[in-house]
Amino acid sequence: MKKELIEKARQAAEKSYSPYSRFKVGAAVLAASGKVYTGTNVENASFGLTVCAERNAIFAAVCAGEREIKALALTPDTYPCGACLQVMAEFAAKDFVLYIDGGEEYALADLLPKGFKL
Ligand code: THU
Repeated sequence: MKKELIEKARQAAEKSYSPYSRFKVGAAVLAASGKVYTGTNVENASFGLTVCAERNAIFAAVCAGEREIKALALTPDTYPCGACLQVMAEFAAKDFVLYIDGGEEYALADLLPKGFKL
């Protein structure tokens, strides 16, 4: 599953809309149902409106009715930003794992030890 998720993240990165940064990012989420959802970064001339690949993938899963994510694979040379980590925390299963293409693997608590919770 790890290999498949990483491959889907790579494919998603090919769809990146990133004319300003030229930094293509792809993400693939494995949801509790076993289905995989992908996302890429979508930039905007009003830079602050850009949405990261991770959030687009997670929101696609939620839009399909998912409420728990087991894993997220990300294309190389980046770590999730703070906003994306907080969104992961909202939906992450206890055993959630982040795979970064190239071999790194993290639990969410490694990257966001004290996420905000209500
Ligand atoms: N970006 C992501 O999509 N995910 C990350 O983990 C970090 C940054 C995007 C946002 C923007 O389109 C570009 O990468 C440069 O910041």
